[in-house]
Amino acid sequence: MAQPRTVITFGTFDVFHVGHLRVIERAAELGDRLVVGVSADALNLRKKGREPVFSESERLAIVAALKPVHEVFLEESLELKRDYIVQFGADVLVMGDDWEGRFDEFRDICEVVYLPRTPAISTTALIEKISGAS
Ligand code: CTP
Repeated sequence: MAQPRTVITFGTFDVFHVGHLRVIERAAELGDRLVVGVSADALNLRKKGREPVFSESERLAIVAALKPVHEVFLEESLELKRDYIVQFGADVLVMGDDWEGRFDEFRDICEVVYLPRTPAISTTALIEKISGAS
């Protein structure tokens, strides 16, 4: 019997929106098992310069509850991508095309697929919209 094909993807998934859902659904279609690395609060602060609205445990719980997701874990460092790919036995790494080309170095251990972002929605835009809505 063929081995199940594992897909891995990463993100903050703060203020969860339909762009997040679509990338997770499309990632899951590329294999049999989807593992999602959710950025730790500290990593998010370093990466985006702000505290996420929802804590890492809340974001983990939301992503873990999605039907296409088989397993979640906390992504503690951007430098550990290779270790996570190996640890979870990923055959495919999926990233949004905002990262196009940035993860090609992992093509030696897995397929790397960049998916087009869902247009006109982002956590940053939502926060700005909600902040200005009072
Ligand atoms: N994503 C997507 N389409 C969008 C927004 C995000 O496909 N409109 C994807 C990203 O490419 C990434 C994943 O969702 O693979 C998680 O992205 P994240 O950075 O958490 O979400 P953003 O909405 O882009 O957040 P921010 O505005 O803070 O950058």
